[in-house]
This record gives sequence, C-alpha cells and structure tokens, in this order.
Amino acid sequence: MHRKAQTAVPIHPLLAERWSSRAFSDDPVAPELVLSLLEAARWSASCFNGQPWRFIVATRDDPEQHARLAACFTTSNQRWVPRAWVVMIALAVDTFEVDGSANRLAQYDVGLAVQNMVVQASAHGLNVRQAAGIDIARIRAEYAVPEGVTVMCGVMIGYPGDPDTLVDPLPQRERQPRTRKPLSELCFSGRFGQAYDGLPDETR
Ligand SMILES: Cc1cc2nc3c(=O)[nH]c(=O)nc-3n(C[C@H](O)[C@H](O)[C@H](O)COP(=O)(O)O)c2cc1C
Repeated sequence: MHRKAQTAVPIHPLLAERWSSRAFSDDPVAPELVLSLLEAARWSASCFNGQPWRFIVATRDDPEQHARLAACFTTSNQRWVPRAWVVMIALAVDTFEVDGSANRLAQYDVGLAVQNMVVQASAHGLNVRQAAGIDIARIRAEYAVPEGVTVMCGVMIGYPGDPDTLVDPLPQRERQPRTRKPLSELCFSGRFGQAYDGLPDETR
C-alpha cells in the first residue's frame, strides 16, 4: 500500500512514496539490509564531518534485546513498536571530538543521518516510523548513555503491514491522504514570512 505524496511538481519516487506506517508486517528484515541502513546513516553529511550520530539498535532476530529496547517507547508507541523488525534510538554527541567545543548542529546532523537511513530503507521497500515518544530517562539508565550525549528519537523499521491489524480508527487513518503546508508558507524571499517569489501559482 502506498500513500504517495500529491506534489505540486514531480519529486523523486523514493521521496514521494515514503510514508510512516503504523502497521508493520512480521516479515524479517535481512541482517545485511539492516547493515545497509546503518551504512547509509554513516555516509551522511555533517558539520565539520563531526559525525555526531549514534544508534542503539535491536532487531527481532534477538527477541530479548528487541523487547528491552521496545520497552523504552511510550505507551502510545507500544501499538506499533513490538512488530517493527528493527528498532533504534538515535542519539547526538553534543560536542566536537577534535576540541570539545559545543556542536550547535549535532542534532541537525543526526536528523540528516536518520533521513539517509529512511531513504535507503524506502529503496528496499521498508517503512520507517520515527518516535518522539520515548522514555529518555529509561534509555539513559538502561543503556548507560554518558553525559554529553543527547537521546534524540526512536526509529521503527519494517516492511509495511496490513492496516486492518490495527484497532479503530487507525485502519482508516492509515489510508488517509498525507497532507503538507503549501510551499508559500515554508519558503521565503525578501523577509521571513513573505512567500518565495520564484513559486509558480500551482505551488501556493
Ligand atoms: C521526529 C519525529 C518524531 C515522531 N514521533 C512519533 C511518535 O512518537 N509516534 C508516532 O506514531 N509517530 C511519530 N512520528 C511520525 C509522524 O507523525 C509522521 O512522520 C507525520 O505524521 C507525517 O507522516 P508521513 O511520515 O507519513 O509523511 C514522528 C516523526 C518524526 C519525524
């Protein structure tokens, strides 16, 4: 099932067809595919090549570790995390290794790395759902996360599942068209808030 973006102008199918499923299938994600996701993240761009991203990873190949990591997601996310074959927590190292100075863009870089992973996953028919809803204190304690490292976001990855395995009203929600603000609310020229003057009418 695809929930392709209705774009104002064409974009690459990998981006248009990406969406965040709640339902995951029980089909295993091959270990080499999991590695390719991590490798894609590793090759992301970063400020001064600081590479501040870190990932705690568990897959359903190891049910005990998967359950341990899944338990770090909030109640709301418990509806999907147990079935996601791959579960991760993305973390950011707050300072540059080279001189210990604060890396203002560390969290930005972690987002880039996760997006690299998302695109790689999409290319293999995998679906990704990211999660703000995680128990940060529990993750810090459970995985001995040191000072100077920020726990950022949960990541659930698997093959998309049957929406009807979810409870109402989620099956309908899983099929609804995806929406976005128009470009004119997002892209400016002249001053903040003034629509970029290069936008054709159909993008407004
Ligand atoms: C940083 C981030 C945090 C998110 N947190 C959650 C979450 O805790 N639970 C959840 O079900 N979805 C979460 N999502 C998924 C978003 O709701 C979803 O990406 C958004 O509705 C847009 O849908 P789309 O990804 O299908 O385009 C999160 C997404 C991102 C990028």
